[in-house]
Amino acid sequence: MTEKSFHIITFGCQMNASDSRWLARILATRGFVKAEVADAQVIVINTCSVREKPEQKFTAALDHVRRVTDANPEVLIAVAGCVAQQLGESLFSDASRVRLVIGSDGLANAPDAIVRLLADPGLRISLLDCTVGYEERENTRGASGPIAQVNIMQGCDNFCAYCIVPFTRGRQKSRAAGTVLEECRARLEEGAREICLLGQNVNAYGQDKQGDGTVFAVLLARVAALPGLERLRYVTPHPKDMGAEDVAAFAALAPLCPRLHLPLQSGSDAVLNRMGRKYDRRGFLDLVERLRKVRPDMALATDVIVGFPGESERDFEDTLDMMETCGFMSSFSFCYSDRPGTRAVLFPDKVDPSVSRERLARLQALQETLTGRWLENCVGRKTDILIEGRSRRQEAGQTSWQGRDSYGVLVHIALPDCADYTGKMASVTVTRAKKNTLAAQLAGELW
Ligand code: SAH
Ligand code: SF4
Ligand code: F3S
Repeated sequence: MTEKSFHIITFGCQMNASDSRWLARILATRGFVKAEVADAQVIVINTCSVREKPEQKFTAALDHVRRVTDANPEVLIAVAGCVAQQLGESLFSDASRVRLVIGSDGLANAPDAIVRLLADPGLRISLLDCTVGYEERENTRGASGPIAQVNIMQGCDNFCAYCIVPFTRGRQKSRAAGTVLEECRARLEEGAREICLLGQNVNAYGQDKQGDGTVFAVLLARVAALPGLERLRYVTPHPKDMGAEDVAAFAALAPLCPRLHLPLQSGSDAVLNRMGRKYDRRGFLDLVERLRKVRPDMALATDVIVGFPGESERDFEDTLDMMETCGFMSSFSFCYSDRPGTRAVLFPDKVDPSVSRERLARLQALQETLTGRWLENCVGRKTDILIEGRSRRQEAGQTSWQGRDSYGVLVHIALPDCADYTGKMASVTVTRAKKNTLAAQLAGELW
């Protein structure tokens, strides 16, 4: 075991990934170094509980960590994220060896807690209190790669019938616009070229008591105007909160990429109603139409749940129909999973898991076709990519790099083996479509 070393295991959404990166940076500023599980003095598992599977992954990870560190009981094990908030102090037990539980609003205080716990092996700390406002964290410098992810809010007030997020992340809390802009500016000065604004329900930004009156479209325009910004994205918006200004922004703001992740969840009005999504097929299709009117090339991606309680074959076919009509170029799809404390747990007519699995396979096959169609359409076109780093797949004689186009598609490109291209923009021509990615060649300058 190396003194003052840490290892972070991360599950879940982009907010968890971004939280883990913040924690890693702040620990580094306090003199900690990264290490493998077997060698680390502090191990943090940052968890997700959105479905049963990610929760099981946490249990497996904790077992693994305990086994690997068996000979070093002084290793500090911490649990953060949504399972931590959900299970709270029940995670503490002699057998679990967990000594720090970090809830959704507790991360800001985690570095100090870690230092205290290392000094006092008899101590356990839980950081589970929900704060009233957005919990600001210590700034970190030297943070950015080419893409900066910046939290603008946390929590959710929607209480969709299936969803545990409002329970784990708490009520919606918007971060002050000035602070968001300050962080964006700092990250751009450090070399970031793309900003992705993060939150569970980003376009409801500002619509809570904690906000400073700035609404999402205004915040977006202010971020878009920052010097040095090449690309702007956000995730995740709720369809019911996409106002006319949010749609218009895709025409008005040059850095805003023509890609939107717009969670559909179901294409059946009856199911959407029971889910409590507060939009219907017509409303969703109308939104898609308005988006395509301002940006005909808009790339839409989505989330879908199959096998929601009471979902009939007919309901499911409505979902397939919506997927085709909207032409989603990518989607995350899941079988419905009962989550403790949510309304849907009590709903009758649970769908048989084998039926859900079969529907999921059909939906994913359709998505493969839609994705294939989208990617084939890109072949021969010129596009700009922001290079994120080397590809794992290398080709002989040249180094393969990867980046994303403005539609968010991963593009592989071979470049002469003489420089670090990370963070460069490249003008490329797409040469080939693969299953989920594109291959391209340099067509112009790198800048
Ligand atoms: N705030 C976002 C995403 C929330 S969680 C939104 O409003 O869409 C990410 C995705 O997980 C959801 O979009 C949903 O598709 C899926 N999900 C959430 N709860 C689920 C559950 N109980 N069972 C299956 N999938 C679920
Ligand atoms: Fe969950 Fe619905 Fe909130 Fe999304 S909008 S986080 S699905 S409750
Ligand atoms: Fe998972 Fe919590 Fe994110 S439940 S999806 S880590 S908000």
